[in-house]
Amino acid sequence: MQRAARTWKLGELGIGFVPTMGYLHAGHLSLVQVARKEVGAIGRVIVSIYVNPTQFAAHEDLSTYPRDLRRDLRLCREAGVDAVFLPSDSAMYPGKGEGSYSTYVVEEKVSSGLEGASRPTHFRGVTTIVAKLFNCVLPEVAVFGAKDWQQASVIRRMCADLNFPIKIVVAPTHREPDGLAMSSRNVYLTAQQRLEATVLSRCIRECQSQVRQSREIPVGQLVDLIRGKVEGETSGKLDYAAFFESNTLEPVERVKKGTHLALAVFFGKVRLIDNARL
Ligand code: PAF
Repeated sequence: MQRAARTWKLGELGIGFVPTMGYLHAGHLSLVQVARKEVGAIGRVIVSIYVNPTQFAAHEDLSTYPRDLRRDLRLCREAGVDAVFLPSDSAMYPGKGEGSYSTYVVEEKVSSGLEGASRPTHFRGVTTIVAKLFNCVLPEVAVFGAKDWQQASVIRRMCADLNFPIKIVVAPTHREPDGLAMSSRNVYLTAQQRLEATVLSRCIRECQSQVRQSREIPVGQLVDLIRGKVEGETSGKLDYAAFFESNTLEPVERVKKGTHLALAVFFGKVRLIDNARL
């Protein structure tokens, strides 16, 4: 991968990168289109597919994470991707488990709340693998989805703090017609849970409407509203609903126009997330 990337760079071809864990959907393909726009027709668009073990906790879904490489490769070909990078575990984490892999990248501020609080080892795995993928693919531009808003913010912080010469682009969340944010994990939902899962986007819309009607609303009031909808109207269990400043992820006490909302909901073992600026 590095050899190919260096050759493209010598030819002055821009490299646009979309890191994924595979099981691609229309949301991923929209990131590919954004990467293509960034590097132009003669640039190179690279997608990586790697289910990164270090971002899963022991009790999470690493072994059952959905995979369909043949379909992913077809979708990439149809979307005009120039190369798909498929690193192996032994290439990414040589000697892991035998004690010889020992370097991790840790962001200590933006990653601490929200997903970081619910999944304490998650972002250390994400920043480590993304830094490693950047070193392999050598992109000028990398595209991340707004659905993982905190992830994109952590990566942006990491690039600024560690002087990665890479432009981070955050592309809008892609939604199903009924509002559910697209995610590879949606396939885990039962038919009933799939119907109920629209509660995340409905909560966002309801908060948007409340914010339009009042100048400022105490956070507790909207958290109660969200909990009531999730736990009163569906079989879901609210993991968190958080209100914060979009860029810094600093929590706010009063919600107003422009405040960011992120929420995570469990349906059985399936954990869905969504977010939006209100
Ligand atoms: O968002 C994802 O799919 C993953 O967290 C990423 C960025 C590919 C790192 O494994």
